[in-house]
Amino acid sequence: MHTIIKAMVTSLLTSKALRSKYLSPASYHHAINSNLKAVVIGATSGIGQGCAHCLAEQGYTVLAIGRPRPGRAEQIVEELTAKSKSSAAVLGGVEVPVPAHEFYATDAFSLQQVHQTAQEILSKHPTIDVLVITQGMATTQGFTPTKEGNDEKMTLHYFSRIAIANALLPALLNSSAESEQNSDSDSDRMKKGPVVMSILSGGIHAPYENYQQDFSLEKNYSVRNAADAAGFYNDLGLDYMACKKGNEKINFVHSSPGFVNTNWGSEFGTVLRCMVRMMQPLGKSPGDCAEYMLGPTVFASEAGHDLPERLVGNKGLFVMGEKGQSKSLTKMHTDEAKAFVWEKTVEVLKKAGIDIE
Ligand SMILES: NC(=O)c1ccc[n+]([C@@H]2O[C@H](COP(=O)([O-])OP(=O)(O)OC[C@H]3O[C@@H](n4cnc5c(N)ncnc54)[C@H](OP(=O)(O)O)[C@@H]3O)[C@@H](O)[C@H]2O)c1
Repeated sequence: MHTIIKAMVTSLLTSKALRSKYLSPASYHHAINSNLKAVVIGATSGIGQGCAHCLAEQGYTVLAIGRPRPGRAEQIVEELTAKSKSSAAVLGGVEVPVPAHEFYATDAFSLQQVHQTAQEILSKHPTIDVLVITQGMATTQGFTPTKEGNDEKMTLHYFSRIAIANALLPALLNSSAESEQNSDSDSDRMKKGPVVMSILSGGIHAPYENYQQDFSLEKNYSVRNAADAAGFYNDLGLDYMACKKGNEKINFVHSSPGFVNTNWGSEFGTVLRCMVRMMQPLGKSPGDCAEYMLGPTVFASEAGHDLPERLVGNKGLFVMGEKGQSKSLTKMHTDEAKAFVWEKTVEVLKKAGIDIE
């Protein structure tokens, strides 16, 4: 018990230190004056909401994406505006501008809807600097197809993540975030510039060994396989995008958040959900988690501080742990696996009416 309490206190102190390090009048003004914009999908709850609030406090315009619910759009925009206003009041004194946040209603079980939302965002916002992806669910259900025929959990944890990242590429490539030049493109450290971060299980999942025989998990579905497949495919799919010619400027990150006190598990049955809820106060808050995810990457980049390094090779994906530390890819992360998973991903998106290369 003593060790757990000590870990909780250390975690709290470290995240607070990151906050005071990166939230300053200069950083807020920089974000406002440079019109920095962040898309957060999964922004209605938990880690996504924590990240959206943190970015709003930092002066980013947040384009929040989440499931439609009555009154939700107004509520989310109000909350984000309140976060920006409180920062502006503390940091800037009088008449400091506040960004105009937006909400886009989207059910991420539909890849087509995710794609259309991205097109709507692109039509209004030619530049985007940060994309945070957190939509997810925790169930013990078996393979459960969406209307497009893919498993629900795999859709939230992988396919919709690639769909949004791929569709927003044109705006991410236009990012106004200061980006380092080609001389540094072979560095093993993250470059300054736009960030795409998928928050799921970077560095902590095992590879899904049946990916060639049963890519969609229709035959080998289990909670474990679905978790490993989603994590493994995030590594491979995002790494494919990171290594693709033309995308060098963008930093692609697959991170794991650690144990966070959120609504995670609300789809579980009563007994399992009660067990999760009893343990959750031991987890970190979504706000602290957001500090650990955005502090060492997005905010450190703006402040010119040391950025995460890749543990394997000097190209491609960054894998990050719950405190922003670098983590490794799995032993099955090969060029062949990457090409195979990407080809299958392209097929799945094509079936949903989305053309990607
Ligand atoms: N919490 C942890 O300890 C933990 C640990 C490891 C990994 N993770 C992963 O981190 C990610 C975020 O988890 P969390 O803890 O923040 O969970 P959470 O509080 O349950 O949030 C999940 C988010 O996903 C959204 N979502 C679910 N189904 C959706 C759909 N069909 N369309 C659009 N959005 C949908 C939810 O929207 P609604 O508000 O509409 O429900 C909510 O915003 C998940 O992928 C989770 O697996 C969490």
